Amino acid sequence: MSSSLRFPKNFIFGVATSAYQIEGATSEGGRTDSIWDTFCRVPGKTHSGHTGDIACDHYHRYAEDVQTIADLGVSSYRFSIAWPRIFPEKGKFNAEGMDFYKRLVDELEKRQLKPAVTMYHWDLPEWLGQMGGWLNRDVSKYFGEYAETLLHHLGVQVDTWITHNEPWCASFLSYGIGEHAPGHTDWREALTAAHHLLLSHGEALQAYRASGLGGNIGITLNLGAVYPASSSPEDVAAARTADGFTNRWFLDPLFRAQYPEDMLEKFEARVGRVDFIRDGDLQHISAPMDFLGVNYYTRSVVKADVTSEFLGVGYVPSSPDSQTDMGWEVHPESLYRLLKRVASEYTDIPLYVTENGAAYADVLEDDGQIHDTARIAYVEGHLAAAERFIEDGGDLRGYYLWSLMDNFEWAYGYSKRFGIVYVDYDTQKRVLKDSAKWYRELATKHRTQLV
Ligand code: FCB
Repeated sequence: MSSSLRFPKNFIFGVATSAYQIEGATSEGGRTDSIWDTFCRVPGKTHSGHTGDIACDHYHRYAEDVQTIADLGVSSYRFSIAWPRIFPEKGKFNAEGMDFYKRLVDELEKRQLKPAVTMYHWDLPEWLGQMGGWLNRDVSKYFGEYAETLLHHLGVQVDTWITHNEPWCASFLSYGIGEHAPGHTDWREALTAAHHLLLSHGEALQAYRASGLGGNIGITLNLGAVYPASSSPEDVAAARTADGFTNRWFLDPLFRAQYPEDMLEKFEARVGRVDFIRDGDLQHISAPMDFLGVNYYTRSVVKADVTSEFLGVGYVPSSPDSQTDMGWEVHPESLYRLLKRVASEYTDIPLYVTENGAAYADVLEDDGQIHDTARIAYVEGHLAAAERFIEDGGDLRGYYLWSLMDNFEWAYGYSKRFGIVYVDYDTQKRVLKDSAKWYRELATKHRTQLV
C-alpha cells in the first residue's frame, strides 16, 4: 500500500470540505437561509430532494472531525465559511456564527493544523439572493465588507485565504446552465454573475491588503485541460472555444486585466453588449494575488457541433471504463499539463491544488471496511502528476484532497461519495476508507522525513 511519491520538505498535504456540504444545523446559531437552502426546497433540483439541513452534522461534531483530520497526519485543512452565519440579515453581524469558526480554528491550532479558509463556496445569504444575487453589482461591495469582517476576527490565526471557490460554477453553472443555485438559464445573467464574482474577489483582495495582515490570499478556479477530438480545423477551433469558456474567461481577467477577445465576440453575439463591465473593473480584478488555487478533476475532449448550445462545442463522452462515479474521465496527465500551462502562460505565483479527488460507489463491507482501491489509484496518479510538475521546476506548494469525508454533493445530494472518510448518514458514524489509511501513510511518511 505504500507509495514511492516524494515531495519537497514544505509541501502541504491537506484535505478539503465546504460549509454547506458538511455543516448541517442550517437554522441554528442565528444562521438564516442561503440560496442553496431555498434551491434544495424546489422539487427536482437535487437528487431525491436532498438538502444540507443535516449533512455531516459537522456544526456539532467539528471537534471530532478535527481530531480525525489530525489523525490523518496531514498538515492543513481547507474549509469554507457560511456567509449567512456571519451576516444572517442585511447589516446584522452575528457573533454566534463567527464563534463557531473561532472554535474550529482554535481546535485546528491545538492540533497544529494550518487552516486554509475559503470565503465563498456558493452559499450566498438568501437576503442577498432576494436582492438579485450575483446579478446585482452591489453584492460585490457586500462581499468586501464580509471579507473585512472575517479578516478582523480570524486574520491573525488564519494565514491562507481563498476569496472564491470556482467562480465558473457560481456563475455559468448556476445562472447559465441552471444546475446550481439559483438555477437560472440565461447566458447574459451568467456573464454578469461571473463579472461580479471577479469584482468581489478584487474587493476582498483590497480588504486584505488594507488590513496589513502578512499572510496569503488567492482565488481557486476549476480549470480543465481541453483536447480537440481530431486535428480538423473545426474541432481545433471548438477546443479553443471550450478552453475560453472554462479557463480563459477567468484566467485572463485575473492575470492579464482583460477578457479574451475571441470569447467576448462570441458571447456578445449571443447576449448583447457586456456593458456591465465598467472602466477600472479589470484593474481591480487583476490586483496581484499571493497564490492561485487549482481544482482539477477531469479533462474534456470536444468537437465542433453546430447544434450545441455551448457556442458550437460538442463534448465527446469518455469511455465508461475510465470514469469515476460522476462519469468524469480519470486523466492525471492533464493535471500535469494544466499546471504547466498556467505556469508558462499566466503566472509565476505559487500554485496549490486546492481540490482533487474522486467519487466512487463505496461499499461498507461486513467487516466494517471500505476497500476503495480505485480512489487510491486516482489520488496516487494525480499526486504523481503534481510531483512531476515540481520536478520540472514548477512552484506547487500543496495538495488538498477532496474530500475529507462523504458529503452533500450539490445537485447530486448524498448519492455521490467523494470522501476518504465514509459517513454513515443514519448514525453520522465516520469510518476511515482504505484511501484514508493510504493517505495517512503518505502524509505521515512525508512529515516524519522533515524531522
Ligand atoms: C467542486 C466543488 C466541490 C465539490 C467537488 C466534487 O466543483 O468545489 O464543492 O463539489 O467539485
